[in-house]
Amino acid sequence: MGSKKFMQIDSFIEKLRGFEKDIITRDSVLDFCSSVQITDSSLAPYTHFDEKFYTRNLIYRDDLFEVMTICWQPGQKTPVHTHNGQLCWMIPQSGNLGVVDYKWMGCDHPENQNVVGIDCLAGSDHTKVEVVREVEACAGGPVLTADKLQTIHRLYNLSETSERAVSIHIYSRPIDSCVAFDMQKNQCYRRQLAYFSKYGEVAQRDLPVEIGLPVIQ
Ligand SMILES: [Fe+2]
Repeated sequence: MGSKKFMQIDSFIEKLRGFEKDIITRDSVLDFCSSVQITDSSLAPYTHFDEKFYTRNLIYRDDLFEVMTICWQPGQKTPVHTHNGQLCWMIPQSGNLGVVDYKWMGCDHPENQNVVGIDCLAGSDHTKVEVVREVEACAGGPVLTADKLQTIHRLYNLSETSERAVSIHIYSRPIDSCVAFDMQKNQCYRRQLAYFSKYGEVAQRDLPVEIGLPVIQ
């Protein structure tokens, strides 16, 4: 892995903001994220665990970037989801995550992708997605991405019983909702995203993952 530079999260965000002066590309931010090791101590205010859901903890947000930790208890997982046509970088900070990438193979409402500002209106009953690959994301290992060519995945804590995990997620632009897939019913729906904590403060009124929608296994 070579020599990664230790960096506090504040410095990381300051340097990340430097990318806003130019066109933001997947690979330029990927190179930067791959070159640093963010210190655990600087992430302490943004590390919160919940028994029911993984938690999304906002660290920084502007028009171009959103930075958060996601904290995973053993066994916690996301549904299969999209990224609203945005770019996403994930730095595994501690523990081990599994990532499953999927490919969209068709649905009965493809015209719902003809919409401005979000990736799809969703609402199909016959969505087909297929697994492309499955990888492990381990602390100190490679930074993973979701991009416009590979936009559907699910994440989960590889440990089902004992080990917690923390990952750092950077989105450009910020994502307030995405499409999630019900793999049993072949349905997809739009899902609002919420924060468990913002800027170090637990947001009591925000549900950890979503409001009023079931978590799809
Ligand atoms: Fe994701």
